[in-house]
Amino acid sequence: MTGIICGTGSYAPSYIMDNNEIASMVETSDEWIRERTGVATRHIIKDETTVSMACEAAKRALDDGGVKGEEVDLIIVSTISSNVILPCTACEVQKELGAMNATCFDMSAACSGFVLAYNTALAYLSGGMYKTALIIGSESLSNLTNWKDRGTCILFGDGAGAAVMRAKEGRMYLPVTHSDGMKGKALTCLSRHTKVSPEHMTDPEYYMQMDGQAVFKFAVKKVPEAVNEVLEKNHIDKKEIAWYIMHQANRRIVEAVAKRLDEPIEKFPMNLQEYGNTSSASIGILLDEMKRDKRLKSGQKIVIAGFGAGLTWGASVMEWM
Ligand code: UT7
Repeated sequence: MTGIICGTGSYAPSYIMDNNEIASMVETSDEWIRERTGVATRHIIKDETTVSMACEAAKRALDDGGVKGEEVDLIIVSTISSNVILPCTACEVQKELGAMNATCFDMSAACSGFVLAYNTALAYLSGGMYKTALIIGSESLSNLTNWKDRGTCILFGDGAGAAVMRAKEGRMYLPVTHSDGMKGKALTCLSRHTKVSPEHMTDPEYYMQMDGQAVFKFAVKKVPEAVNEVLEKNHIDKKEIAWYIMHQANRRIVEAVAKRLDEPIEKFPMNLQEYGNTSSASIGILLDEMKRDKRLKSGQKIVIAGFGAGLTWGASVMEWM
């Protein structure tokens, strides 16, 4: 028994912030940002919230898969930037979809979140506990971004990506995931829900802080290792892989991973130029885009790979529906 993705959906806020707007806030330039990251624009919430984007992406995924709300028996939302703590975002999605039969919970796994949500749903589906799952990555990173820090504010964006999964007879591919809490300092953000006086809430620690070079080096080394590990574990040759759908953090990271794997860059689709880094939403948004423009074809083998705060990283193989 395994689980397959049978529908995808995504949502991006209509407000688009380009690099020149960022250059009006911090000392940087469109040229620098494009060259060092590949990012040209990012979508930023105005009226939207993490919950509203998750609901919209989820509705589109259900529509796409021809699945009714009441059929869903598991909803997992990956987010580090929800506007609600209680009830969890997944329960808010349940309410909106009328998915009264679903078990709902959120997970906090940052940029590895979509891969971990996929693996978690896969474990439940292949184990026979549930039949239909909805996984969603939804992020309002602009609320956690320090708009005075040019080392981070150039990178991030907001959005949501979702996928519906069904239990199905077939081969179950085993994922590979790793965590290294010892390196957690490379990417941090303190919660604002603490007993700190309000005037300290705007201190830099309450926004995302990153050692960009450390995260860059970690990603370039660990992601190819995880991809090779997942392929070996499942006895799959690189030639069989149609697409490597990576977390969209930086074009140079994607290029370096392709080079280390000795695979053509054409197998590594990117949309970070439009969205920036949307953390746990990025892989879901890209999957949805590729499904809609028909790049994803039945029977193709796909690797999804995530990495980020924790530090955490991992890769999974799937066969497209
Ligand atoms: O989702 C997972 C989490 N995040 C990531 O995957 C991000 C990984 N890291 C990165 O993408 C890159 O490290 C950054 C894009 C954040 C930075 O690029 P970099 O090539 O590593 O730049 P750097 O930090 O080594 O800085 C190079 C220079 C420095 O100037 P000096 O010391 O050489 O004079 C920086 O002060 O560029 C300067 N700099 C900037 N200049 C213009 C740093 N940020 C900017 C900026 N605009 N926004």
